[in-house]
Amino acid sequence: MRIGILGAGGMADALGTQWAAAGHEVMVSGRDPGRSAAQAARMDAHAGAAGRVRSGTFAESAAFGEVVVVAVREAGLLGTLRAAGERLRGKALIDVTNAADPGAYDVTRSLARLIGDVTGGHVVKAFNLCHVDVWRMTPPAFDGRPLSVPLCGDDPRALTAARTLVADLGCVPVDGGGAERAALLEATAAFVIGLWFGGADAQAILPPLVSSGTHRPA
Ligand SMILES: NC(=O)c1ccc[n+]([C@@H]2O[C@H](COP(=O)([O-])OP(=O)(O)OC[C@H]3O[C@@H](n4cnc5c(N)ncnc54)[C@H](OP(=O)(O)O)[C@@H]3O)[C@@H](O)[C@H]2O)c1
Repeated sequence: MRIGILGAGGMADALGTQWAAAGHEVMVSGRDPGRSAAQAARMDAHAGAAGRVRSGTFAESAAFGEVVVVAVREAGLLGTLRAAGERLRGKALIDVTNAADPGAYDVTRSLARLIGDVTGGHVVKAFNLCHVDVWRMTPPAFDGRPLSVPLCGDDPRALTAARTLVADLGCVPVDGGGAERAALLEATAAFVIGLWFGGADAQAILPPLVSSGTHRPA
């Protein structure tokens, strides 16, 4: 798959390196062409990808990708989407963004909805619940259990691409519902980040499925 990434920071590096190692073609993009090119070269070397990672402008990445990953900070989101322009219309967009200030997250102002409204692309929210270092793990797994990655989106082709990209990390895609539920994923990130910064183990707040009240043992 050709994957354009809007961003050349930590998330672009972690995810793009894994996807290049899995055989995909990746183009990262940032505001500074020299920095983006250096990032692409590092990723290519780490992935052993032999030229499958390259860099370009935001517009070039948007045009390059069959799937385009939005991996920029909130402060740069609108400017980046405008720079990417019309090329995002109708494309599968994987949105990994979170609010810059989790404590001030407003569920009525979803970043995923903004991305869809501005671009006309088919947004799937994904990969926003874990720290960048988790996405560098090969594979991301804890206590022997592969990480599950919830996906929220409406477009079947975009969801199929997102499931492939989750599986290529060694993770398990989980259907999180339609695009309107992306705000819940953003709110979940804001909530657990608050717990983590407070020193709580957010993983411990939920029971296993058998104790969820929805599944009775046979
Ligand atoms: N880091 C995490 O643990 C993590 C986990 C889950 C989700 N996320 C989300 O993923 C997105 C990317 O995070 P990241 O960790 O990859 O961030 P990062 O390392 O700081 O990279 C940010 C990228 O955004 C670009 N950008 C464009 N306009 C910008 C502006 N005005 N201000 C700042 N950056 C701008 C930067 O461009 P340049 O290359 O030109 O600097 C850079 O490529 C964010 O929305 C974040 O909330 C992060």
